[in-house]
Amino acid sequence: MVKLVVTDKDGRDVVVEAPPGLSIMENIRQLPRSVEAVCGGLCSCATCHVLIDEESMRRLPPRRYEERLMLAGSRSFDAARSRLSCQIKVTADIDGLRLTVAPDDL
Ligand code: FES
Repeated sequence: MVKLVVTDKDGRDVVVEAPPGLSIMENIRQLPRSVEAVCGGLCSCATCHVLIDEESMRRLPPRRYEERLMLAGSRSFDAARSRLSCQIKVTADIDGLRLTVAPDDL
């Protein structure tokens, strides 16, 4: 299992034990104050937006074009930290990754 440390929309830290292979979104969406993931991981809604801890960000592959496009419309976009959690696969390389669920875009 891969450990993810998730700060939810209320600022609470939750540790998630995630099996490799699924996306981060699929492992955190069941938390009470987490991402909505309206499109189910199709990279077409941006409601799975998370802010990755800067040290953890260095361990991730770069954003693909489609992800960059979706994030560009978010009011809480942070160039250094924003990712769509549905576009990141859980692997052993990201064990201990820290992320914060982005605030809702209203
Ligand atoms: S779940 Fe819709 S873009 Fe990630």
